Amino acid sequence: MSREELLVLAREVALRAYCPYSHFRVGTALVAGGELYTGVNVEISSYGLSLCAERSALAAAISAGAGPITQVAVACIDTTPTAPLQECTPCGACRQWLADLAPDATIYIDGVSQEFSVADLLPYAFRL
Ligand code: THU
Repeated sequence: MSREELLVLAREVALRAYCPYSHFRVGTALVAGGELYTGVNVEISSYGLSLCAERSALAAAISAGAGPITQVAVACIDTTPTAPLQECTPCGACRQWLADLAPDATIYIDGVSQEFSVADLLPYAFRL
């Protein structure tokens, strides 16, 4: 799947984000074993237990028994076009999930032309 197609899907799925506290909608679309999986951020009243879109999509792929994760697209649809890069790159927890579950994936960020590897986002990642 092309980068742009996957980003379109990430933007679409972000419309279903459940974020009544932050109102910051995030969508992730990924390709694993040739299949598509999506996730959104899901917030609950105990804010710290909320789930990011990236981990939501990774969990969906793993739950489905998907093959290797090769592409991950992330869209933060409530940022302004001039927002700094760090406003829409995966958080630290999601980077570790990516390192564990999608180590060979290429990561696309909506609005950013650069493509990232997991090592770009999390050098010297923890591994067991
Ligand atoms: N969020 C994500 O979904 N992914 C990230 O990598 C960073 C933050 C969500 C969590 C929370 O629901 C909202 O964005 C604001 O932090």
